[in-house]
Amino acid sequence: MNLQNAKVLITGGNSGIGAAVAEILIAAGAKVAISGRNLEKLEAVAAKIGAVAIQADVNNEADVTNMVQTAVEKLGGLNVLINNAGYGYMAPLVDIDPKEFEEVWRTNVYGLMLTAQAASRIFIAQKHGNIVNIASTAALNGGANLSPYNATKFAVRGMTEAWRGELRPHNIRVMLVNPSEVMTSFAENLLSNSGKTPKVYTENEQATKLRGEEIAHVIKGLLEMDDRGFVTEATVFATNPKV
Ligand SMILES: NC(=O)c1ccc[n+]([C@@H]2O[C@H](COP(=O)([O-])OP(=O)(O)OC[C@H]3O[C@@H](n4cnc5c(N)ncnc54)[C@H](OP(=O)(O)O)[C@@H]3O)[C@@H](O)[C@H]2O)c1
Repeated sequence: MNLQNAKVLITGGNSGIGAAVAEILIAAGAKVAISGRNLEKLEAVAAKIGAVAIQADVNNEADVTNMVQTAVEKLGGLNVLINNAGYGYMAPLVDIDPKEFEEVWRTNVYGLMLTAQAASRIFIAQKHGNIVNIASTAALNGGANLSPYNATKFAVRGMTEAWRGELRPHNIRVMLVNPSEVMTSFAENLLSNSGKTPKVYTENEQATKLRGEEIAHVIKGLLEMDDRGFVTEATVFATNPKV
């Protein structure tokens, strides 16, 4: 698609990967709305990069309906959804807190589904649209102690495959992006949500990890491809050279 014609909603756009995607798409001429729960952060990022700010909790159906409607009104339409809001929770099976397990599922799976549902109704009616779901390399391989997060991201990958089949006849491209470790607030939140002390990365360690910019670069490329084709899934690793 020509990004000059892109009207984009990015959930979790007030931080990390989502904010980097918003910035690169705006620079390429797209109109972008970002959403998140933290209004102060949302308004600050939106003002800095020239995005529309829409406060919404993706766990809440009324918020999701309002978020998508507002994006359509403020952008003058909608043809791209970047379904990115999410966070991590980890614990060994024997120690999983059922409430935390359910909470992370509600955001990463249920919230992502509600958002895709609201956007796809618009995309089906206009016979055109793009959905980019952000999963993780944790959608590809299970890891010890990671099952609560693995469960959500495997689900995102499965739903992406199902929706791709359903929506492709409506000229809607459904794509998946699996980032490996990206230097955002994700890791710090994952560890603190899981009752662990956040790890402080040295400058050298940070230099060998991904930044939001690499994920943004991939998403821009996926969208820019002519509508005649699409990439189903892109997995992004850090080159991670051993020095
Ligand atoms: N960083 C990594 O290493 C990594 C690797 C693989 C996949 N991912 C995935 O990439 C996505 C973005 O993560 P990130 O690394 O950019 O982390 P981040 O900087 O912590 O950003 C997470 C974003 O999600 C939003 N969010 C969380 N819960 C929400 C809710 N209930 N409703 C609406 N928004 C919500 C947050 O905004 P508010 O708190 O203001 O709501 C924030 O904007 C996530 O889906 C994550 O699982 C990250």
